[in-house]
Amino acid sequence: MNIIVTGGAGFIGSNFIYYMLDKYPDYRIICLDLLTYAGNLKTLNKALENPNFKFYKCDIVDRETVFNIFENEKPDVVVNFAAESHVDRSINNPGLFLSTNILGTQVLMDACRAFGNIRFHQVSTDEVYGDLPLDRPDMLFTESTPIKTSSPYSASKAAADLLVQAYNRTFGLPITISRCSNNYGPYQFPEKLIPLMIARANDNKSLPVYGKGENVRDWLFVEDHNRAIDIIIRKADVGEVYNIGGNQELQNIDVVKIILDVLNKPISLIEFVKDRPGHDLRYAIDASKIKKDLGWEPTLDFKTGIKKTIDWYMNNQSWWKEIINGEYLNYYNEMYGNR
Ligand code: NAD
Ligand code: DAU
Repeated sequence: MNIIVTGGAGFIGSNFIYYMLDKYPDYRIICLDLLTYAGNLKTLNKALENPNFKFYKCDIVDRETVFNIFENEKPDVVVNFAAESHVDRSINNPGLFLSTNILGTQVLMDACRAFGNIRFHQVSTDEVYGDLPLDRPDMLFTESTPIKTSSPYSASKAAADLLVQAYNRTFGLPITISRCSNNYGPYQFPEKLIPLMIARANDNKSLPVYGKGENVRDWLFVEDHNRAIDIIIRKADVGEVYNIGGNQELQNIDVVKIILDVLNKPISLIEFVKDRPGHDLRYAIDASKIKKDLGWEPTLDFKTGIKKTIDWYMNNQSWWKEIINGEYLNYYNEMYGNR
């Protein structure tokens, strides 16, 4: 089996590559990644030692290069993780999100059509459903919840989902889509809530919590997400959409307090800052379809997963310190300077 994994130098994609190389020693994994600010080739250092792994620095929007790689590598399956993934950045620069997340997906699917109707899996997000009220714990996103987006990021992911479904209906491309809740774990770029808070708390710096910290996210350990994708690409029927969630809803303020507690740092580090425009209130996933059809369930609760994650960040400080001491300093000042 030859699998093309796009965005494999980022957070979830790199964890997927390690998961697959470990589980299937006879599979070939070919990674395409542009190495944007979020991609880090050092993350793939161990994979690069494996003869069954190959890396191409490549923009998924660059049709000619993508087609050449498909022609050479002859993939059986494509898993598309490549994306601009940070909501706050999409508020500052929507155009880049539309290009990578929509047009890049189109180029990959055109390549799948051109080289033998290759199976294509789109890694999507629960954000395509918009948000849920804070005071209705009975309400959950199902696969038939209407698409209704809040940010340029989620709008670009929703547009890509619709295009993927259109390629299935119009051209018969064998596709699947998964829509997952918030992931956490090793190799997450320290712009996202959990690694940002771990890194700043470790350095005794203030922890910027948006608004009152009441917004709710449903947290899933990254390996549980990747196990679900592995099952979907091997077992799901073509055309299916699956929600994936951790069943671990928490308010942001409680996530931050748990991190402070594990790191033995004071609550006084928390600083409430100006809210994110259009900030989604609550995400909560009904993952009963994937359990019923494919037998997938999350295995890690948040308390266990966050301890594993914090241990990883403490034992791999050079990985994230190199990031936060570089160009990232300008990003942080621009995003948080006037908040
Ligand atoms: P990430 O930002 O950590 O990684 C994205 C990767 O894509 C990076 O390696 C980057 O270099 C690469 N990339 C960006 N533009 C590219 C381009 N034009 N061509 C080739 N490569 C490009 O993102 P992540 O958190 O690992 O998310 C991966 C996917 O999962 C995304 O599609 C995201 O929408 C989706 N998702 C993420 C979460 C989450 O909680 N992080 C949850 C649900 C779904
Ligand atoms: O739900 C899946 C989505 O989860 C993915 O599709 C996105 O790619 C991923 O980035 C994530 O989106 P969020 O916006 O939920 O994640 P983020 O880590 O940016 O923020 C999580 C919550 O924490 C959100 O309510 C905003 C808040 N927050 C975030 C940051 C960076 C803060 O309060 N302070 C911060 O500094």
